Amino acid sequence: MTLILAIESSCDETACAIVRDGKEILSNIVSSQINVHTRYGGVVPEVASRIHVENISTVITEALETAKVTMDDIDAVAFTQGPGLIGSLHVGVQAAKTIAWAYNKPLVPINHMTGHIYANRFVSELEFPMLALVISGGHTQLIWMKDDWTFEEIGTTGDDAIGEAYDKVARVLGLGYPGGPKIDKIAKEGGPHYTLPTPKTANPYDFSFSGLKTAVLQMIQREEKKGNEVSVADTAWCFQETALQSMVKKTVAAVKEYQPKMLVLAGGVAANSRLRVLMEEEMAKVPQTKLVIPPLYCCTDNAAMIGAAGYVAFTHGLFGDFDAAADPGMLMPGEKY
Ligand code: KG4
Ligand code: ZN
Repeated sequence: MTLILAIESSCDETACAIVRDGKEILSNIVSSQINVHTRYGGVVPEVASRIHVENISTVITEALETAKVTMDDIDAVAFTQGPGLIGSLHVGVQAAKTIAWAYNKPLVPINHMTGHIYANRFVSELEFPMLALVISGGHTQLIWMKDDWTFEEIGTTGDDAIGEAYDKVARVLGLGYPGGPKIDKIAKEGGPHYTLPTPKTANPYDFSFSGLKTAVLQMIQREEKKGNEVSVADTAWCFQETALQSMVKKTVAAVKEYQPKMLVLAGGVAANSRLRVLMEEEMAKVPQTKLVIPPLYCCTDNAAMIGAAGYVAFTHGLFGDFDAAADPGMLMPGEKY
């Protein structure tokens, strides 16, 4: 049995979890700063770092207490090294190094995006080759994983990440931050009232959302100029449907070409209710590839997912040392620019 203590602080959640064998969560404490950042319409990096400093010790203590374990029981300390906000990451990195040094435990540095992918271990054993659709506030990637812990990017966004597009459209519609869950909710009351352009890209597995975001903005301005009231629900529905249909179509095309054993969704946008339905409908037509979607509680940022990836890195002997520093632009292992 391997017990990992995992720390995550890459953006606006201060989190610590205790995970057994990379698939059983003994505790998963997340202290969210959303209420503070909502006032500013988005994450304020300096404010985020300060709140991480205030909360990090408490979430670590709480994670150990909830799991009913002590540091003596812990085999390794995994932590998010990047990508993310430098000041936010720094707090978690320092906490992990301090605790590993004080209790003489090995350190396991983890890329946040691999954490999102390995969160699927809480649902199912992963089967390779596997394709991962990684969709968050900063990333929109199709990652081909021939084997466990190998990562090859076959598609990415040329401009905005999908979560970023959700957040920006929500802001234009006056829905506030974070936009994803708000658009998800209000779109249920909308319908196909407006027409928006389908995103186009040169590489069939790449994504693009900035043109769609601009089209939403122009459509709103056009309607307002004509004196028409813009329906927030219909706009949300049309934006979401256009973005998701395009993303699902590309993903299913990649599944058909690469023929993985499994397709996993990963990242905050995987919490989207419409995406989950659409993906299930489309993947039912490709029964040879199993679809796995992480549970809602571990789609958005948390430390349990870092514990899941941390366990796999631990079994591969991928330890860090005390020189490890926050890496805001960190790439996945094997990922190139
Ligand atoms: O993975 P995550 O928590 O943080 C990053 O690593 O970026 O993802 C956050 C993103 C935000 O852009 C948020 O608006 C989006 O995930 N998101 C959603 C939903 N819940 C969160 N987007 C669409 N529908 C949702 N239900
Ligand atoms: Zn994330």
